[in-house]
Amino acid sequence: MMSYRIIDGKAIAQQVRDELKDEVARLKKQGIVPGLTVILVGNHPASESYVRGKMRASEEVGIRSDLIRMNEDISPQELLAEVRKLNDDPSVHGILVQLPLPRHIDANQVIATISPEKDVDGFTPVNVGNLVIGQDAFYPCTPYGIMELLKRIGISVEGKHAVVIGRSNIVGKPMSILLQRANATVTMCHSRTIDLPSYTKQADILIAAVGRAELITSEYVKPGAVVIDVGINRREDGKLVGDVLFAEVAPHCSAITPVPGGVGPMTIAMLLKNTVKSAKMHHR
Ligand code: GUN
Repeated sequence: MMSYRIIDGKAIAQQVRDELKDEVARLKKQGIVPGLTVILVGNHPASESYVRGKMRASEEVGIRSDLIRMNEDISPQELLAEVRKLNDDPSVHGILVQLPLPRHIDANQVIATISPEKDVDGFTPVNVGNLVIGQDAFYPCTPYGIMELLKRIGISVEGKHAVVIGRSNIVGKPMSILLQRANATVTMCHSRTIDLPSYTKQADILIAAVGRAELITSEYVKPGAVVIDVGINRREDGKLVGDVLFAEVAPHCSAITPVPGGVGPMTIAMLLKNTVKSAKMHHR
């Protein structure tokens, strides 16, 4: 048992949004209104809720947000045509296609059609490539939000051992790159890793992006580690929990993010930050 800090992602995200609100007000005086358009295909319940959160946060900071809803059974061509229309619309600075898409649509093809200059999710091949080679890019919002959290609470990753569990395009892969760029030593683990705890126990900074409710127990965690929980899972009893068994793990950590109220609000805040950045770039 040691004293640990619960990282208040909700409060830090509010701080980021407050800063953005001031910046958007300044931009509006120059006649620039940042605009974000979200495309939601079908009505996946979790996606509905995420999209609502993104729209609400946009309005709060003064970003114009539009939602385009498309039927579950639209053709890939119809969706691609919509994306191209937004690429050509100068009032749109950010385009976000909410994932997952229905199985009959190739998500990679849709993502590759988004103009890299409006790709506020940071998912297009151009932005992923620029991230990897250390150029300026739109960074994917969840890993970007985690880096911002660590920075704002004064946790340096330089020289430390960061272990990332999960290798998704949205979180795990870009997370590992951002950590390397900040001079961490990075180990990647995933669902096929043999003896996961033998790696995670060596982590100074542990990023859990597994998608399995409360998988990470205290046997996985080195005393004094910083634990970042990216998971959002519905437990059998209906409760929303992370990838980390919070009550058991927290006393072993120096700092830990809760679920909800940790990483989630930061993801949305960074989406807004990317949208404002895009609006500024398009008006130089
Ligand atoms: N689905 C889950 N997370 C994300 C995200 O960050 N962006 C998009 N577009 N879809 C998601």
